[in-house]
Amino acid sequence: MSKKICILNGSPRPQGNTKALIASFIKGAEAAGNETVCFDLQKMNIHGCLGCCSGGKDSAHPCVQRDDMEKIYPAYQEADVVVLASPMYYWGISGQLKCAFDRLFAIAELTPDYENPHKDCILLMAAEGDTESNFAPVKAFYEGLTAHLGWNSIGVVYAGGNMEAGAILDKPNQLKEAEELGRSIS
Ligand SMILES: Cc1cc2nc3c(=O)[nH]c(=O)nc-3n(C[C@H](O)[C@H](O)[C@H](O)COP(=O)(O)O)c2cc1C
Repeated sequence: MSKKICILNGSPRPQGNTKALIASFIKGAEAAGNETVCFDLQKMNIHGCLGCCSGGKDSAHPCVQRDDMEKIYPAYQEADVVVLASPMYYWGISGQLKCAFDRLFAIAELTPDYENPHKDCILLMAAEGDTESNFAPVKAFYEGLTAHLGWNSIGVVYAGGNMEAGAILDKPNQLKEAEELGRSIS
């Protein structure tokens, strides 16, 4: 069955390695009949969470802040699969992605018990380092996040050894891994 896939791209580099992973992932996912939408967070006007806990009162405007998160909220709500795509920045996800992800709290606020919608999810990450220990902090974050949200991780691509934008184009195996992950969704 066709799935709706919402991709949050936390890389600021339009020709970057994360974007190349996303392009390969989309190729596979769409070939398998899925619908994808990708939000390039760097190009969007998205402010940090205010921590006001005053959202969730109006489903048309889940957050009190009126910014480009309003474009993401409907796609996130409809999505079967959420893809977190990011460069590794200081052994974590990028600020752009963290900023947008925090704002998804407004959707949980729409329910009386702050219940997060249940999703399948995927992590696509590009990084310079290519060792298990380099990826360990992100792995711990991602596994903790998905466990606490009750989300089901259906795949991760850790694409190490990529510093310059486009370096990943010389690593067809990493791009193939992303494409195959996309293709596995049905
Ligand atoms: C601010 C900053 C912090 C970074 N921190 C790390 C890091 O902690 N570990 C790592 O392996 N690479 C790190 N990198 C390298 C990027 O993860 C790498 O260049 C990646 O391929 C960038 O993805 P992009 O091309 O999609 O922007 C950092 C790069 C920048 C600009």
